[in-house]
Amino acid sequence: MDYMEELQKRRTFAIISHPDAGKTTLTEKLLLFGGAIHVAGAVKSNKIKRDTASDFMEIERQRGISVATSVMGFDYQGLRINLLDTPGHKDFAEDTYRTLTAVDSVILVIDCVKGVEAQTERLMEVCRMRKTPVIIFVNKMDREGKNPFDLINELEEKLNITVRPLSWPVSMGMSFRGVYNLYNRSIYLFNPGGNTLPEDEGLAIDDLNGPLVDKLLGDHASQLRDDAALIEGVCDPFEQKEYLDGNVAPVFFGSAINNFGVRELLDTFTAIAPGPGARPADSRVVDPHENKLSGFVFKIHANLDPRHRDRIAFLRICSGKFERNKFYHHVRLGKTLRFRSPASFMAQEKVLIEEAYPGDVIGLYDTGNFKIGDTLTEGERIIFHGIPSFSPEIFKEVVNTDPAKAKQLAKGIEQLSDEGVAQLFTQNQGNRKIIGTVGELQFEVIQYRLLHEYGASCRFSPLEFFKACWITSDDKQKMEAFCRYKTDYLARDKDANLVFFAGSQWDLKYAMEENPGIDFHFTSEFKTAAVNCDPISERVFS
Ligand code: G4P
Repeated sequence: MDYMEELQKRRTFAIISHPDAGKTTLTEKLLLFGGAIHVAGAVKSNKIKRDTASDFMEIERQRGISVATSVMGFDYQGLRINLLDTPGHKDFAEDTYRTLTAVDSVILVIDCVKGVEAQTERLMEVCRMRKTPVIIFVNKMDREGKNPFDLINELEEKLNITVRPLSWPVSMGMSFRGVYNLYNRSIYLFNPGGNTLPEDEGLAIDDLNGPLVDKLLGDHASQLRDDAALIEGVCDPFEQKEYLDGNVAPVFFGSAINNFGVRELLDTFTAIAPGPGARPADSRVVDPHENKLSGFVFKIHANLDPRHRDRIAFLRICSGKFERNKFYHHVRLGKTLRFRSPASFMAQEKVLIEEAYPGDVIGLYDTGNFKIGDTLTEGERIIFHGIPSFSPEIFKEVVNTDPAKAKQLAKGIEQLSDEGVAQLFTQNQGNRKIIGTVGELQFEVIQYRLLHEYGASCRFSPLEFFKACWITSDDKQKMEAFCRYKTDYLARDKDANLVFFAGSQWDLKYAMEENPGIDFHFTSEFKTAAVNCDPISERVFS
């Protein structure tokens, strides 16, 4: 198969949802349809049920044994589909944001009883920012949920996107009869309790007003006719381009646990979802048709077995063909590396690969060369956009509780921040370490991992900061003045960029208003050009 054919076969996506909406169940059903697994229960949930570090670690340990759960590849209708797993817990949302940089589209699962939940809004915001095409699956239609029209309105309002139903439910809960597919004009009848794969195709409907519909749906037929007429009247016809541009999200209804609506979802996904797209880098846009390799690391998974310190870096390939044992350029380190045992993931199995193509996500064994956001090329110095650190919201100072293990502690903290577990900021020439996260649970996880993997112990002392933001300026004097005045509120991130800690929302607003010459950035992805004028030397913190 030549390069073009390989490229056109790839579909790389993530399923996102608020915990409990049905992400794991849907993933499993998709893998069953794709023939990648044969029994239900094979996909491990990554849900943290007890909100404790040990619960998280247990999940991570299981995933460490079978890292395959991070990427699930399967073949369906001639396509190679890569499904990327995202963590469910809100404290690990940053991990999900980063995974979203590595996909070309997204399936968003909504619980029809709960509607749009907080986490879903945030995740959707990230998709909107990047114009990622989204298909929405409204799940649990076997339960009494919200009225489907209300749900559609809620989706539009809260997710801030135009939605277009491509299927429509016939009743719900106890009286759920199935869905009418507005795209291919077929009725799919609901057959509850199916953990096996239904072979039934939809029944093509030539005329929604015809007697076949009455025969199939009985009393529900007239409601469906009214609903369908209303949708067709109100919604614009579905245009694939609008979906691909991230302007319209098609909506499907179903019940993942009952295998209902899943095949339709998958068939539509394969028909409309985009293949590997072009990706913006710092100096240019990289096109997947280019024959030179480029890719970026969006996730690092520690192998949690203390006897094997290696980690796996997940590389999304953006252009060119990746080949085993070929030398590639690590842009940040300016180093040449080759990989003897790159792995791909076919559902449950990790397989040694000889080559990989754009859209593929491969696992590279790493002994400490990679950080999140690193780029591999055949020599070109480019850095891919869109793998930012977000401004964290909880800050704590690290206090070493075992002075004999200071080195281990420093190393552990640095490596964990490279993995993206939390963000590390330093003051006093690196002597004062501050960790910033989006959730409390991350602190417990850090403490646990420092102890178990590095033999270091520490405690955290809370800091009353509201937000951290990166600052730059073209005006050296203004920057100097600001830094003199705010010494105690400044730190460096792990790449030595200047960071300002605001004590409160008011402090931040005031600092921004009073310092028009200073730019405040809320993600780490700001223009590096402006940083040239950074007068702050470490003396400021001493
Ligand atoms: P998540 O990964 O998004 O967190 O959700 P998950 O798939 O684990 O599903 C959450 C719960 O919702 C599970 O029940 C699952 O069985 C149930 N569920 C998923 N799809 C449907 C559906 O279509 N209809 C109904 N009625 N329930 C559905 P649980 O009791 O929390 O877990 P379990 O004991 O069944 O595993």
